Amino acid sequence: MYKIVSIPGDGIGPEVVAGAVSVLKQLSKKHGFDVVIEEHPFGGASYDLHGEMLTSATLEACKKCDAVLLGAVGGPKWEKLPHEHKPEAALLKIRKELELFANLRPAKVYDALIDASSLKAEVVQGTDFLVFRELTGGIYFGQPRGFDENRGWNTMVYERYEVERIARLSFEAARKRKGKVISIDKANVLEVSQFWRNVVHEIHREYADVELSDMYVDNAAMQIVRNPKQFDVIVTSNLFGDILSDIAGMITGSLGMLPSASIGTTYALYEPIHGSAPDIAGRNIANPIATIASVAMMFEHSLNKPAIAREIEAAIEATLAAGLRTADIAAPGEKTVSTTEMTEAIVRHLGA
Ligand code: NAD
Ligand code: IPM
Ligand code: MN
Repeated sequence: MYKIVSIPGDGIGPEVVAGAVSVLKQLSKKHGFDVVIEEHPFGGASYDLHGEMLTSATLEACKKCDAVLLGAVGGPKWEKLPHEHKPEAALLKIRKELELFANLRPAKVYDALIDASSLKAEVVQGTDFLVFRELTGGIYFGQPRGFDENRGWNTMVYERYEVERIARLSFEAARKRKGKVISIDKANVLEVSQFWRNVVHEIHREYADVELSDMYVDNAAMQIVRNPKQFDVIVTSNLFGDILSDIAGMITGSLGMLPSASIGTTYALYEPIHGSAPDIAGRNIANPIATIASVAMMFEHSLNKPAIAREIEAAIEATLAAGLRTADIAAPGEKTVSTTEMTEAIVRHLGA
């Protein structure tokens, strides 16, 4: 029996999480395992109900399950709240409380979608890299932070143990892939990046079989668009990883395609990399694939069923190959399907 806590959140969050839940239910039927899905409010939706973006009940539930499935949070309705009360602050809090220090963001191009990218087919075809974004440190969490009328400030700081543990995970992952890690920083300007680079190289001594190189983040942004196939594993800090993974989204055709796993030593949470997309929320047109593919990552990393992860990926691939397209991945003038139609097609391809 698996216990999954779902925290759909705001905007398109509930729409895409509903798709992922249908996939979980179909898999439970097909393979005969029980799955209990416990839904909890989070973000703006929780604030509207309970006056708090992250209640202790939601947080505690996330600690008492096999894995958490998150949609997205945020939106114009809560934008004007003070910083520490915004939905985004609650997302940072949940990551910190669950110690989810590693955010794995795979960027893999599906052959059927090569023409959905804004880049040339020959540039994107065959792209397959994995970003290890540090998720509980760096400028997102450093103190002091704040602003007054004349000044705004944040602090980018990394502790040795924070760099060591994410570096180790990225080297371990590279061993199971093409054996190549590129660490991305801004060591030509920032001391914290020079420290990051030094520590990554120290840890690399334990992984001499893995090839390590460094790249400045501005060049990396350009290289991802110029020749994404040169990357295997990327390891980088919180802010740089946030930005670079959205760039990677466009290689695969849409932000709506990119899943992620946020993992620590005790807990794990699965979330698409995109946000709550207020511009399309409530219209049943969002792409559920990023969230459904996050369920595949859940089976791989938390539920120890890699074969089921492959089944989900194959069902997504078959659905795309059959020509189904939500609006974000459709060519101009091409027929589009809704969020629920895309979900139903993936569920059908999973089989009974
Ligand atoms: P966004 O990712 O929500 O949207 C960016 C663009 O991509 C929009 O045009 C949107 O329609 C499109 N898009 C995103 N996901 C899609 C999907 N599944 N299918 C089709 N199109 C999709 O980023 P934003 O507009 O900058 O932010 C909106 C809100 O979401 C903000 O409040 C932001 O803070 C929040 N946000 C939350 C998360 C999260 O919860 N993990 C991540 C990013 C942004
Ligand atoms: C993401 C988002 C979040 C981040 C925001 C909403 C706090 O952009 O998950 O990528 O910056 O980590
Ligand atoms: Mn982001």
